[in-house]
Amino acid sequence: MEKPKAVLFDAYGTLFDVYSVALLAEQLFPGQGQRLSQLWRDKQIEYTRLVTTSNHGAHYQPFWQLTRAALTFAIKTIAAQPDSTGAEGQFDAQIGRLMNQYRHLSAFPENREVLKALKSRGVVTGILSNGDPDMLAVAVKSAGLGDLLDHVISVDTVRKYKTHPDAYALGPQTLGLEAKHIAFVSSNGWDALAATWYGFRTLWVNRYQLPFEELGTPPTRTGTSLRDVLSFF
Ligand code: LAC
Repeated sequence: MEKPKAVLFDAYGTLFDVYSVALLAEQLFPGQGQRLSQLWRDKQIEYTRLVTTSNHGAHYQPFWQLTRAALTFAIKTIAAQPDSTGAEGQFDAQIGRLMNQYRHLSAFPENREVLKALKSRGVVTGILSNGDPDMLAVAVKSAGLGDLLDHVISVDTVRKYKTHPDAYALGPQTLGLEAKHIAFVSSNGWDALAATWYGFRTLWVNRYQLPFEELGTPPTRTGTSLRDVLSFF
């Protein structure tokens, strides 16, 4: 099989470690950090689907805003204090600190060397993410990856989140390549699955020993770190 001409990476969970916020979450909510960061992530993804599939996208909000809304929901859940009069604003300080941490997520340690190896093979590289342009710019800069990425593509252009096909279509459109010539890398099983359905060659980076989605389509490849993308070449 022909080698892909480009590699597009999912951002959150794939290049940037979304669970790195668990440490701060644990300080702010002792004994609940892990649960909070998991709830936060799940609700964030749920909200992307909710706004993309409802009412023809009329309720779209950029990823930063959805992320904050999801965090507020998650905190209220673990604090067992759902909306009640007088409770509004109670967690503003914690929300502010966790959102600031989210803005500067740790990058996985192998990222730089893998991107360098791809560049040395002449492969076009980029991000295709739900993140809005500002968030992605800060994350890429904090992680020092700017010089190794040719494209940073945000679904904000089409105001539809993955797994909507218009979101994935930004890859081929921006790169001027057919989907089958692009390798798409995600550590999110649902993202790797939908990208496979869309027509990309895919690598699912299974960082947490999870089962793959049970919907009958496997990713092209499965690995355990970003390094496994080099097996396409
Ligand atoms: C992203 C989310 C899905 O970066 O992780 O698109």
